Amino acid sequence: MSKETILIVDFGGQYAKLIARRIREFNVFSYVVSYKNALERAKKEDVKGIIFSGGPDSVMADGSKKIEKEIFELGLPVLGICYGMQLMTYTYGGEIGRSGHKEYGQMELNIKEGSTLLKGIKDDQCLMSHFDKVVKVPEGFKVTASTDNCPIAAMENVEKGLYGIQFHPEVELTIFGKDLLKKYLFDICKVSGNWQMDEFVKKSIDDIREKVGDRKVLLALSGGVDSSVVALLIHKAIGKQLTCIFLDHGLMRKDEGDQVEEVFGKTFDLNLVRVNCGDRFLAALAGVTEPEKKRKIIGEQFIRVFEDEAKKIGKVHYLAQGTIYPDVIESGTDEASTIKSHHNVGGLPEHVDFEEILEPLRDLFKDEVRKVGRVLGIPDFLVDRQPFPGPGLAIRVIGEITEEKLAILREADFIFRDELKKAGLAPKLSQYFAVLTNTRSVGVMGDERTYNYLVALRSVNTSDFMTATWSRIPYDVLDIVSKRIVNEVDSVSRIVYDITGKPPATVEFE
Ligand code: XMP
Repeated sequence: MSKETILIVDFGGQYAKLIARRIREFNVFSYVVSYKNALERAKKEDVKGIIFSGGPDSVMADGSKKIEKEIFELGLPVLGICYGMQLMTYTYGGEIGRSGHKEYGQMELNIKEGSTLLKGIKDDQCLMSHFDKVVKVPEGFKVTASTDNCPIAAMENVEKGLYGIQFHPEVELTIFGKDLLKKYLFDICKVSGNWQMDEFVKKSIDDIREKVGDRKVLLALSGGVDSSVVALLIHKAIGKQLTCIFLDHGLMRKDEGDQVEEVFGKTFDLNLVRVNCGDRFLAALAGVTEPEKKRKIIGEQFIRVFEDEAKKIGKVHYLAQGTIYPDVIESGTDEASTIKSHHNVGGLPEHVDFEEILEPLRDLFKDEVRKVGRVLGIPDFLVDRQPFPGPGLAIRVIGEITEEKLAILREADFIFRDELKKAGLAPKLSQYFAVLTNTRSVGVMGDERTYNYLVALRSVNTSDFMTATWSRIPYDVLDIVSKRIVNEVDSVSRIVYDITGKPPATVEFE
């Protein structure tokens, strides 16, 4: 079955990926493509509609991003957003003007009678973010909405299937944005909205099988959501032709290494090589206290161990990766995808003998990856896992890392997570963990003076991890956690809860 697709043509707009995500929320497949190869894609695939994103250029400027007129004339409805609307205007002979200042912020949109795209949508706030604006619509177009600052805030030519809007329907600040996109999809592009994750899974498995043939694939499995989903997806397609190398660097949380082995090696019977290299990592980290140096050492060790193991496996054709959509630096461009693939493996390709990279999740957002994981039957505790940094507990043991400190932290962290889970709070928190500080403090237990470690608890809420607020965990829960840690974990006598946001702090302590 062909896949009904809405192409998002990227002109460098900051929201291009968000448009794709919004469309997929309506069960319609959508992805971002560079303006440079949009026409070719639109002709080849089962495209039902095309959306032009915004962008930083001025259409009138020399060298600004342009697109072949042919793409407007394929008989597919085109929705131009911001720069996209201006480009549509330019292409069909209308006029663009530049105001002296940027119009930015929420504005009230006044919708005129007789619009096809905006019919049934009530006047409300929309997000405007532009310098240039359309001052005269091309012949055959009519103006369908305005704001106080922007007399031509929407336009359309229904016969040609061309629609332009100056505001951004993809952001939440445009109150009716989802309604507008829904109308565009179902009333104008006439999509059926039948794209489902299980369909994606079936199609991906078929594609991988066909592409890989009888060749071999290698994957570095970390047990994180992305690499776990990739592992299982490829395994379903080609079975034991996939080898997963799981490096247990000794910096994982309590029981984590065994769980990964249990799920992937035993339950799903993957061709899994577990490499226990904790000693090697600890030796390399001995005496190191500086966070960036820890990261660098761990990155280098990881590559070296992986290379050694890969050599034992011999020639593989593909190196698989859990690259997901937000990892792709520049949407859609073929050049960008290659650049990112190499960044992602942090220099791995140099000594690992492979020909191509396989990235079956590169079109998906994180929540979609989790859905794929569920379709594949990966247990919830792995699919819903909170993010865990590559350097693991090394950046949560402040200062020098020792086996003893790691053991203390593992227990304290486990208790914190366990109590949050029992209290039903875990799904509402973005990231939560314990940190073993480098401070010791005086305490009294029984009749004895103690001089033990101070453990900090950290929990944050965030949607993008760029900024975060500290989680308002009820005192009662913190109280239970504190008592349990001090009682159950040797060498800890004091617990503090971090009440700093990001900024000014970061999520991790190091
Ligand atoms: P920060 O501490 O920068 O954390 O506010 C933001 C998010 O990034 C994760 N993080 C890392 N992830 N390698 C990773 O793979 C790292 O070196 C690293 N440092 C921070 C952190 O856990 C949080 O989710």
